[in-house]
Amino acid sequence: MPPHPDHPTLTVLDHPLIQHKLAIMRDRETATKNFRQLVGEIAMLMTYEVTRELATESVTIETPLERMTANRVAGKKLVLVPILRAGLGMVDGILQLVPSARVGHIGLYRDHETLEPVSYYFKVPEASDARDVFLLDPMLATGGSAAAAVAKLKAVGATRIRFLCLVAAPEGVRGFAAKHPDVPIYAAALDRQLNDHGYILPGLGDAGDRLFGTR
Ligand code: PRP
Ligand code: URA
Repeated sequence: MPPHPDHPTLTVLDHPLIQHKLAIMRDRETATKNFRQLVGEIAMLMTYEVTRELATESVTIETPLERMTANRVAGKKLVLVPILRAGLGMVDGILQLVPSARVGHIGLYRDHETLEPVSYYFKVPEASDARDVFLLDPMLATGGSAAAAVAKLKAVGATRIRFLCLVAAPEGVRGFAAKHPDVPIYAAALDRQLNDHGYILPGLGDAGDRLFGTR
């Protein structure tokens, strides 16, 4: 997929199935159970596209019939890092495709007044500096949370970071890219704008609340 014409670090993964599932998620009538399932399914479909870029290496194996050279994903296991809470909803779907991935966690919430991210937890697998890291959060709004999460990952040496989100706002894409031009963003959709409270329009509402049924 080529990058977005207005945002060189953004790739919108607009596969018909992704668009279809996202349309159901956005509907205010979609219940928690279905919303949760759809987040996982879209994350899985996005992963199929994003993992296309992973490096491979050749190995010699014995089939039941003869020896051959086959390809496998090179290097250490991939790391998934959901931003709590809503990023958690993307993990299981991705693990269905990449079952041996490691999983870290970054706890951040957005202060409702300032919209600045507040950090409360950080734990990532060892040797994250030598691994491909997929940072996960369904929403890229102001970009503050994702940018803070990437700064934390870079502080432990991670270099091969990709950010996967479902819905991105142009403001967030620009803000994130200004701080981390080296980190590609993959989104299922680029929406129109933020409202005065930092919510994405048209968006899908509060992803954490809809995923966990807290409101
Ligand atoms: C939401 C969302 C992102 C963040 C995006 O989380 O899941 O983490 O807001 O906004 P930003 O781009 O402006 O930083 P929230 O802070 O509501 O926390 P929660 O997932 O714990 O509900
Ligand atoms: N966080 C959300 O969950 N939704 C938005 O629209 C913006 C931030």
